Amino acid sequence: MPRGQLILIEGLDRSGKSTQSQVLFEKFSPDSSLVKFPNRETKIGSIINEYLTDSDFHLSDQSAHLLFSANRWELAQSIIDDLNEGKFVVLDRYIYSGIAYSLAKSKQSSVQPEMSSVDWLYSPDKGLPKPDLTIFLTLDLKELGNRKGWGEERYEKEEFQKTVKSCFEEVFKQHDKIKSIDVNGKDIEQVTALIWAELEAHGATTLTERAIEKFE
Ligand code: ADP
Ligand code: TMP
Ligand code: MG
Repeated sequence: MPRGQLILIEGLDRSGKSTQSQVLFEKFSPDSSLVKFPNRETKIGSIINEYLTDSDFHLSDQSAHLLFSANRWELAQSIIDDLNEGKFVVLDRYIYSGIAYSLAKSKQSSVQPEMSSVDWLYSPDKGLPKPDLTIFLTLDLKELGNRKGWGEERYEKEEFQKTVKSCFEEVFKQHDKIKSIDVNGKDIEQVTALIWAELEAHGATTLTERAIEKFE
């Protein structure tokens, strides 16, 4: 039986991922589901939420990294089940955020060899379902800082976001099926049109007979 496709929206904080993920989810409705990472509703997600919102809450960088991955594994089977039921599953962040944000930390404070090893950072996510297409939203850091709600959580600092951006680029070099879209100066509808055009160009708007790929 043909399956739905797995579509990932990645990007820096406030680049428009949640807005566009919601729009895509609605465009594919009723045969769709929307999965946001981190999912703060699970037990592991509640620890992640505390970590992100309380600067006094300390976790080692390694354990924070593994918790984000564990949070993805909590939902992996339900993503696969939805795809097999013919649903289009839209992901709002996923493993690339996991690797890029952790790698960015290692560029700020050294002496943690695991955190600067892309192999180490990637390994807990191996085996997770791989998106059929990843869209990466890019936006100038200056415009990012002006967007609503920015600056309230742990990683939302301009200097850090600059490092995260370069880490995403480094990680993407080793992966395929990723398309960047520059959202500078474009309104929500214009960005949606560009994303949809990419999905169509990659055959990601119709059911497929291909097996679900895994990260390996
Ligand atoms: P993210 O999930 O990437 O952090 P959001 O989708 O939550 O980003 O968007 C951050 C803010 O920017 C929100 O206030 C949202 O309404 C606004 N926004 C989203 N897309 C655009 C756009 N294309 N142009 C201007 N503002 C936008
Ligand atoms: P959000 O703003 O999209 O809810 O994401 C919360 C923060 O968590 C954001 O700054 C990116 C960060 N993050 C990681 O550090 N590792 C991960 O694996 C994920 C999914 C997000
Ligand atoms: Mg968001």
